[in-house]
Amino acid sequence: MSAYKLLLLPGDGIGPEISAEAEKVIAFLGQAGVAKFEIERGLVGGAAYDAHKVAISEDDMKLAHAADAVLLAAVGGPKWDGVPYAVRPEAGLLRLRKDLALFANLRPAICYPALADASSLKRELVDGLDIMIVRELTGGVYFGEPKEIVTLENGEKRAVDTQVYTTHEIERIGRVAFELARKRGNKVTSSDKANVMRSGYLWREVITALHKREYADVQLEHMLADALGMQLVRWPKQFDVIVTDNLFGDMLSDEAAMLTGSLGMLPSASLGAADANGSRKAMYEPCHGSAPDIAGKGIANPIAMIGSLGMAMRYSFDNAKAADAIDAAIANVLAKGLRTIDIKGDAPSSISTAQMGDAIVAELKAVL
Ligand code: NAI
Ligand code: MG
Repeated sequence: MSAYKLLLLPGDGIGPEISAEAEKVIAFLGQAGVAKFEIERGLVGGAAYDAHKVAISEDDMKLAHAADAVLLAAVGGPKWDGVPYAVRPEAGLLRLRKDLALFANLRPAICYPALADASSLKRELVDGLDIMIVRELTGGVYFGEPKEIVTLENGEKRAVDTQVYTTHEIERIGRVAFELARKRGNKVTSSDKANVMRSGYLWREVITALHKREYADVQLEHMLADALGMQLVRWPKQFDVIVTDNLFGDMLSDEAAMLTGSLGMLPSASLGAADANGSRKAMYEPCHGSAPDIAGKGIANPIAMIGSLGMAMRYSFDNAKAADAIDAAIANVLAKGLRTIDIKGDAPSSISTAQMGDAIVAELKAVL
């Protein structure tokens, strides 16, 4: 078994606390002979600023490029509010995404049966929900040129953002979605505004052609983005993989996250282009931030972080056995009623970050 090269960036706030729990899982998978890791550790965000006055050092960027995957916890916090803009904590994240060219953002919305009552929707609508939203991350209206505010002759101002997509950009994100669907429910819903946007028209044309050419075995449907927003709250379980552009993906993935009712639970992945050997740069991180309000108290929920490690096992290391075991261990601890403070609901008591990590490792022992 060749070793997986993983760069661990704990970052700030609760980051180091939840990273420590992910490391317990990494150590256990190693002992159990399910995976072999070569772990490097680096600094990002406020932690990197405190040490080197940067948001991420050049040495750590080199480690990120050399790694098979980066596992990042969270950055930021009020301590660094006054630091210069170029080296603010978020700049570390943005640099990683940009330099590793991570164009595909994968955000699962998973609703564990044990937590279905925390959702904004009725239990029967979300119980067992498992959607994967694939958002294009490096193109579209957030980056298109021209992007400006100009003052007109009459003194009024005029603001412009430009939605731009090329065939290549649409095709490569479409490919990620179809490949994912083959490993899941075999269905892709592609979302655009083909009825009113030229970029949406091209989006639909390119996805349709790609499907016909290479992925005819996968079920494909197209849905206008506003309709999809409605369907997500009406009957979310109709979806498997949703693929969409940067702007719609930003909104729809946040909407889907709320269906699961639990910010401390949701992992994410950002993937780059595949090289000649089929391997790709990737970064895995929880959807939540550094939670400065509870940092240092040992009560943060490590599940989003451990789930992010699970996604790395599945999407970077092609180790479905380890990924399935992590998912099952998380579902099992929740089914047993173990809760950190953020998902406590009406449970009689909550457990610590470390207790949750230990409980997940104990479940891993049972399922592997
Ligand atoms: P946040 O996600 O850090 O926290 C929002 C609320 O959820 C807080 O009450 C927090 O205690 C709770 N929470 C979040 N994760 C939790 C967990 N694992 N367990 C238990 N409770 C959890 O978002 P917020 O407060 O808006 O931002 C705090 C800092 O994090 C800011 O500096 C922000 O810039 C940064 N941030 C970083 C992100 C990243 O590293 N990707 C993403 C979002 C925010
Ligand atoms: Mg957003």
